[in-house]
Parts: sequence; structure tokens; C-alpha cells
Amino acid sequence: MKVLLGVSGGIAAYKAAALTSTLVQRGATVDVILTAAAQRFITPLTFASLTARPVYTSLWDAPERIPHIHLVREADVALVVPATANLIAKLAAGIADDLLTSALLAARIPRILAPAMNDAMYDDGVTQENVRALRARGYELVDPERGFLAERERGIGRLASPERILDALERAAGRRRSLLGKRVAITAGPTREAFDPVRFVSNASTGATGIALAREAALRGASVTLLLGPTLLDAPAGVDVVRFSSAAELYDAALQRAVGADVIIATAAVSDWRPAERSEAKRKKSAEPLTEQFEANADVLATLGERKGATFLVGFAAETEDHERHARAKLREKNLDAIAVNDVRGERGFGPGENELVLLWGRDGRRELGRADKATLAARLLDAIEERMRCS
Ligand code: CTP
Repeated sequence: MKVLLGVSGGIAAYKAAALTSTLVQRGATVDVILTAAAQRFITPLTFASLTARPVYTSLWDAPERIPHIHLVREADVALVVPATANLIAKLAAGIADDLLTSALLAARIPRILAPAMNDAMYDDGVTQENVRALRARGYELVDPERGFLAERERGIGRLASPERILDALERAAGRRRSLLGKRVAITAGPTREAFDPVRFVSNASTGATGIALAREAALRGASVTLLLGPTLLDAPAGVDVVRFSSAAELYDAALQRAVGADVIIATAAVSDWRPAERSEAKRKKSAEPLTEQFEANADVLATLGERKGATFLVGFAAETEDHERHARAKLREKNLDAIAVNDVRGERGFGPGENELVLLWGRDGRRELGRADKATLAARLLDAIEERMRCS
């Protein structure tokens, strides 16, 4: 593997040296670009010694070689460790005023950023907006962790562990256009079941799992339709997004847009019931207890199971007890090819953090996909689905 490693100017720059050594020991060729600020924390000599290759620091050193273009053309993947708030902001704005930002702007290879910074800088709205914008443009971000920071305090902003960075790198480099020509439909997010114009019944789903799956499927070359419920998370770029709010809207959208796809993955947290009556006017407050009649929603996935045809149909099972037994019942009853079991005790499994999944199929097929961030789990799940599709 040929890695273009960018180092920007934060204290975590020293960790980039250890990571370089690991990569070299694993047989990777590593070309390193240091920004001016990075060189205040660590020297080019460190990386030249580790890689036995020249280290690049300027757009102007060998202009006849156009270094920002040839470096990204020769690499399989670009990785920035650490990515500072300033670097992230420049990339989000398209500023290319040094070798690293120019090379990343010119890159047609996977680009991975591992941010590290002070927790307030990371939490600031503008940094979060920039992170979202870069993700939507196809950058992969290895989220920083909570832990001890340079300010001798604990907070979010510590560089991700080497294992997580290497995982993202391997995934990016090993990614084949394995779903080219395939149509993939994914349901994601919560539903809202309104009982008046301003009140509804919903759940804690954010759609993060389905969004990660949609991004990964698109990167693998699939044509992806994402049926997405109400969420503040952004849908990935290059994906056809259909918005729904209620389970009934999802049902209609799924019948129109998902039936006939090569793969359907149902991650949506669909409400099993809706209020029997929805008033047009806002209900007025009263001291009386509120009693509400609920009626059953149609099961979207079971309906897709009835019309399965050649589709490879994957469900998710949100369980709080006796997980695999309940999930196997859903696998059978909804006519699925596989089901991913999600432990949702105490709202586990919801939101953009880590999750843990087990995939079940057939009578006793079972694979643990392990505990990881949702991007990693999405890749592992799609690997397993592709493998099952080849077997069936
Ligand atoms: N699902 C669906 N439509 C529904 C309910 C669920 O498409 N009305 C899908 C979910 O997207 C998920 C799978 O069915 O892929 C299982 O959902 P889950 O909430 O775990 O189970 P339910 O079938 O609703 O059963 P229960 O609530 O009893 O666990």
C-alpha cells in the first residue's frame, strides 16, 4: 500500500511518527508531507529516518515535479494525522495555500482525516459544520476520542487510537468497487407519529447506522437510495435521498423506491403504532390524564419480504432481552436473508458513537461483527452481505 501521510501542526504530531513506523513495518510505502506548523512540533528528519524517503514540506521545492499532483497520483490513499481545526477549516473552504492542502484538494484517492485538538475547538459549531461538510464531500473522518488532552484536562479531541486509524486506512485501501452496477436501498432513522400539529411519538434513532451503510455502499460503486427519517445528521453525498416522517410515509416510499433493489437494508426504527386520531388543532392543556388510542402500523420490512423476488433482504433487530432468539424469529417471519442484532438496552446502539452487531442468517448462520465505530461496522456488514450474496 502507498500512503500519503499529511501531518498538520498539533501536539499529536508526535503520534504520527509512531504510526509511520507501524505502517513501514507492515510493508507500506509512506510519503510524508509536513505543514509549516507541524515542523514546530516534529522535524522532517524524524519521518525521513522512519520512511527512508524524502519528506515534503513546500510547494516550491521542486516545482518542475509539481509535487502536490504527483504525490497524490502515486498514492493509494491520503491520511492526515493529526488534522487540526485550521486544516479542517481550510479543506472545507477549498483553500489550498500550502503543499498539504493543495495535494488533498487535487486528490482523487480516498482521503482520511484523524482530527485532534482542544475539546472546545472541536465542539465549536464551525468545526462541527466543517467536519460535516467534509464528510458529505466524501472525506472519511476518524472521530477523536475522549481522554487526557494536552491542556492536562479530560475532554473530546484526543487523536483516535492507532487501531482505529489503521482500520480506516485498510478499509479505504482495500475497498473494491464491489457493488458497481448494484442497486441498494436503505431505510434509516426514526419515524414520527403525530397526534396533533406539534406533538408526536418517536424514538432515539438518529439514522447514523443507515447513513454509514449508504456512504459505504456508494463508495463501493452501488447506486444507493436512502429512505431517511427526521434527523439532524447529513445524508452522504452521491446518494439519492427520500425523506419520510411517519411509518405510513416510509411504507409508501419503500414500495415505490426499494422494491426490486439488489439489496435492501432496513435500519429504520419504525414505530409499531400510530395515534388513532390526529387532531388538526393543537390539543389544549388539561388537568385530566391523557388517554390515547393507538393503532398498528404496517410492517414495512415484512411487506418487502412478501415481495422479495431476487432482492437480498437484510433487517435489523432492536432488542433488549433474549436478543438472538427474538432476532431469529424476525428473520423467519419477515422472510429475510439476514438480520443484524442490535442491543438497544439503555438506548445503546443509537447515535453516532460505537455499536456492536451480530449477523444471523439461515437456520444457524452467525457472525460477530464486533464492537466498532459505525463506519467500520458498515464496512464489515457490507463485506458479510456480499459474501452471503455470493453463497446464495
Ligand atoms: N420494521 C419495519 N416496519 C415496522 C417495524 C419494523 O420495517 N413497522 C423493520 C425495522 O426497520 C427492522 C426490523 O423490521 O429492520 C425489526 O424491527 P424491530 O423494531 O426490531 O422489531 P419489530 O418487528 O417492530 O418487533 P418488536 O417491536 O416486537 O421487537
